Formats: sequence, C-alpha cells, structure tokens
Amino acid sequence: MTAPGTTFYLTTPIYYINAAPHLGHAYTTIVGDAMARWRRLRGDDVWFLTGTDEHGDKIAQAAARAGVTPQALADRNSAAFRESWKQLGVTNDDFIRTTEERHTRVVQDILQKLWTAGEIYLGRYGGHYCSGCERFYTEKEIVDGKCPDHQTPLTWIEEENYFFRMSKYQDWLVRTIRERPDFIRPERYRNEILGFLRDPLQDLSISRPKTRLEWGIPLPFDDRYVTYVWFDALINYVSALGGPGDARFEKYWPHAEHLIGKDILKPHAVYWPCMLKALADALGRPEDELLFRRLNVHGYWNIGGHKMSKSIGNVVEAYALKDTYGNDAFRYFVMREMAFGLDADFSEEAFVARLNAELANDLGNLVSRATTLIATFGGGRVQPPDGVSGAWLAAQPPDLAVELAKCRAAVDAAMDEYAFHRALGAIWDMVGAVNRFVDVQQPWALAKDPARRPQLDAVLWALGESLRVLGIILAPFLPDAAARIRQAVDQTGEAKLADATWGGRAAGAAVQRLSGLFPRVEDKTKPAAGTGAATAAPATETPRIPKDHFARVELRVAEVVAAEVVPKSKKLLKLTVSLGSEQRTVVAGIAEHYAPGDLVGKKIVVVANLEPAKLMGVESQGMILAGSADGRLAVLTVDRDLPPGAKVS
Ligand code: MSP
Repeated sequence: MTAPGTTFYLTTPIYYINAAPHLGHAYTTIVGDAMARWRRLRGDDVWFLTGTDEHGDKIAQAAARAGVTPQALADRNSAAFRESWKQLGVTNDDFIRTTEERHTRVVQDILQKLWTAGEIYLGRYGGHYCSGCERFYTEKEIVDGKCPDHQTPLTWIEEENYFFRMSKYQDWLVRTIRERPDFIRPERYRNEILGFLRDPLQDLSISRPKTRLEWGIPLPFDDRYVTYVWFDALINYVSALGGPGDARFEKYWPHAEHLIGKDILKPHAVYWPCMLKALADALGRPEDELLFRRLNVHGYWNIGGHKMSKSIGNVVEAYALKDTYGNDAFRYFVMREMAFGLDADFSEEAFVARLNAELANDLGNLVSRATTLIATFGGGRVQPPDGVSGAWLAAQPPDLAVELAKCRAAVDAAMDEYAFHRALGAIWDMVGAVNRFVDVQQPWALAKDPARRPQLDAVLWALGESLRVLGIILAPFLPDAAARIRQAVDQTGEAKLADATWGGRAAGAAVQRLSGLFPRVEDKTKPAAGTGAATAAPATETPRIPKDHFARVELRVAEVVAAEVVPKSKKLLKLTVSLGSEQRTVVAGIAEHYAPGDLVGKKIVVVANLEPAKLMGVESQGMILAGSADGRLAVLTVDRDLPPGAKVS
C-alpha cells in the first residue's frame, strides 16, 4: 500500500467518438473519479486524465455518413464526452484529444526517435482486414471466413507498411510481468496475457497508407502514411503530460496507473509496455523511468442479462438513469454492483432495489434519524463527553470507535486493489453499526429519565461523530451526499481522510436536520395495489355526521422522532412521535410505502385519543393520518411549522 502524500497519475481510456457516452464509458470514468478523489482525500498529489480518441477508419466512416468533415464530427462528439463528465461531477485534471497539436507533436517525436533507433522498419504484409476492428486477423482467429467480433466478411489486403519490432520484446515482457505481480491486475488478466504470450509475438503494423485512410497522424519519416490508430492513441497517456523531458511528465509518469475495460487488454498489456521499453532504449533511459506502474482492468457490463449492444441503444438508456435517479445514486449503483474485474449485469430493477434499501433506507434513514435526535434532544448541538460519560460510551455496544477503525482499514485495502464494491461494502458495515447503535441505545428512552442526561448527551455526540466521519469517507463515492452530510454537522472546508478518526472533533458542534438525502423511489416493476376507483373511496357513500361527532376525535400535530420496522412485519413501521409534553409509540401500516428514515423529523397528524391497541406485539398509542389512491399512500404533514402537540381541528 502506498503511503499517503505520494504522487499519483491515473488515466481512463480515451473514448472513441463515433458513439455517444454510455454506461460502459461512464463506469470507467466514475471509478477513475472515485479513485482520484480518494487519493486526493488521502493528501496525495493527483493528476487524473481522460479524453477522446479521434482518428481512424471508424471516425472517418462516421463522418462520411454524416456528411461532415472528420474534424467537425470530432469537435462535436468530443464535446459531448467532456460535457457528460462535467454533468457527472467528474474531477479530471485534463482532457486530451488526439487531434490536438500537443498530442500529434509528441506522437511524431516518438515515432521519429523509434525510427532513428531502428525500432521501426518497412515491410510487406498481406492479411484479412476488418474495418470495424481496424485490424488484421490471422487465419486462426477467423470464424467461417468472417470477423469473430462483427461476423462481417473480411477484406484481403496486401500492402507495404511500417512495422514496430515488437517481437523482440517478447521475452522481456514475459519476464517483466512475472517479476512485477501487480503490473496487470486483477490476476485473471495477468494470467490471460501470460497465456497469450506463450505463442510467438508478431511485429506490429503501425501505419496505414493514405490511399486507404487519410484521417490520422502522418508518419514523420514518410508522409504517404498515417499512424495506426492504436499506436497514436496509447501515446495520449504520455503526450498529455507534455512527453518525456517535460516537468509534468517527469513528475507524474513514474506513478502512472491505467484504468481500462477488459476489451482493450491486449493493446495496453502487450503493445504499450513494448512501445515504452523501445522508447526507453531509444532515449537511453532506464526502463523503470518509462514503464507505467500498473494496469487495472475491469469487466464488462451486460444489460438485463444480454451483452451490451450499441445498436439497441440500451447502453445509452442505462446511462440516462443518472438523470432520473441522480448522479450519486448512479455512481453508488455501478460501483457497488460490479465486482471490479468481473462482469456485471445492469438492470433498473436492481438499481432501484439498491437505491431504496441501501441509500434511502440504510444511509438516508441514519442521517435523518441521527440529525433529528440531535435536534430534538440536544437542541441541535453535540458536546464531547467528559471522562465519566466518555468511559460509559466506550463500553456501549456496538463500539463505534472499533467499527470505524475496521471500516477505515477495509476501505484502504479495498481501494489499493481498486475493489470499489468492497470499499462501499465496508462503509455500509459502518452505517449498519451506527443504525444498530441507535436501536440499542434508544436515545428517546434515555430522554425520558433526567438522571440519564449525561448518557443521552454522549449518545448524541457519538451520532454526530459518526456522521462527521461518514461525511469524509463517503466523499470519493457520493460527493454530493457527503458534502450535504458534512454541512449538516457543521464541517466546512475540504474533507481530509486524516480527520476521519473517532473523536477527531474535540469541540462541540451545531447539527442541522437533514432528511430526504436519498428519497425512496417507487419500484415501477411492481404492480400498484388496486385501481384508483377501488382504493379512493367515493366521498358520498359514508353517512353524514354532526360536527360534534368529529370534535370527539382529538387530532394533534406530532413530530416523528424515531422510526423502525416492526420485526417480522412487512407492513408495519413503529414510530416514536413527540406531542410536545409527551412521547408516544404509534404503529402504522406504511412500511411498503415509506422507509423509516423518510418520516423522521417530519411533522405529521395523529389521532391522539384513540384507545391503545397491540399490533404484532407492539402497543400503538395513536394513529397517523394518511391518504391513499391508486395503490399509493401519502402521510399527512403540516405545511407550516407548528409546535408538536398543536391541536388540529
Ligand atoms: N479508443 C479506444 C481506447 C484507447 S485507450 C488508449 C476504445 N474506446 S471505446 O470508446 O471503445 O472505449 C472502450 C472502453 O470503454 C472500455 O475499455 C471500457 O473502459 C469502457 N467500456 C465500453 N463498454 C463497456 C462495457 N460494456 N462495460 C464496461 N466498460 C466498457 O476502446
């Protein structure tokens, strides 16, 4: 594990601009952003790069179809990526385009150096070419005479081209991968490449004749050719830093880590290290100074059990869910659902399930519970406990100081392996521990006994402290929600990981209520219960009553102080409500419509003079008012602030 305070350079692939930004691109960019934010949070000096890959057959063909120049298409589509990442809140430090002068200059410079050093030669090549893949296929790879990827016929092309002497680096590459266990991660991809390298490595054709393709970077030593798109594209990682010799390159390149999907493993794990080794030799520099540090490879998203297909547009639709459910929810889902390195399946149903259970219920509920408890019983302030109550608190289960230490260690280890799903799992263990802490300590019960005030204050302080540290640790993953949590517990300024220690805030703090951090969404995949006509009872069917009958019902404003699911019940929520001078327990059949946290802090209306009744073993001392129609239900709230206990008539 690298020590905090180090230098770190992280890159995403540069995306082809012939497709709109979609789920696949967004995933890599989001995990890249989370990693960059995480390393900045640790205090590292971070440079995070993304960009667009704009040359090659595909772009030229797309431009021809659209009736525009390749450059015009590139300008428009590259801007779509830049804009999309901006909307997602991605914190890249730079955005490189392969049509920029700063890039073409470095590509030509490197090509010239390799040519001069004899690493490139002119040769003749005949092969089966797929214009979709922009590559030749060997006899062994062809399936029924067609491209194994596109299932389209291949074209036999014979031509003179320039070749990079890649084959001579085969033994060196195998040795390097063996000596550096974390050079390609996770291990399954390292093994895949070592397996591939058991067969002889071919030299790499790095040019395309202009007669066939003009949209590329001209070879500096033969302008009848343009550079093969992969040779051009890989160099973006170096050209964005100004190239060898530039101060930015010398500072960041030794710490370079790449982030890619498994589809582009071979160019990154084979071509790229060989290119860098050849460049090191040509420049007379040690190979260590030119090799990247690690290649981090993730799996592929499938959609609803099917391979992602750009033609169906489902990948774009999946990405559009960020607009429906919000950036943080989208980030959370993709990072939590995909075990980094393995394939995963994307479905709106799974998204909504996690959003409701983990964001609305676990986290949102905790934040609104904790801030409301502090507002109600602590007057909106927390104070560090003194020696006696501090010692009492330390002995209370669950031990949140221990839980936090466990969480921190697990997040550190997970992030070191790019295991975003595990990092979030560890944070949710902490969220669960704090929720348990509330359930076990029952601050509303402590509040009933004035002699237990010091314990109540200690519990409230622990809740404030939990939110403070969660606001820090969550920042790389859910930047917006984390900022709102930090604001609610009066933490201004930049979050620092070093501050996420238990008891790290010695002074008292003001805490503001924060509810609805992640509103629960209705699961569209489940049919609504009943139809409108059946559930919205016709107003005229019930007999008229004299006014004094209604006056016998005592309605009061009540503030929801705490809420929890009644064990073993699907429908019931147990609410603790304040009527000002007293607290009541009210059991309500609303659990299918509200997460416990949705109501905490809200002012609702209750029937206060109802005879107590037992529901699933819990005594209910009142009834809440709610409206329903079309299988939907809404709890009545008051639209202006009134004190709890106020009469409703
Ligand atoms: N331009 C090349 C990369 C050059 S890097 C020097 C390219 N571009 S791409 O637009 O096709 O992007 C490929 C990358 O997008 C994948 O490696 C991955 O990061 C992301 N994804 C695209 N589809 C994906 C999935 N279905 N699932 C997960 N990520 C995928 O290749």
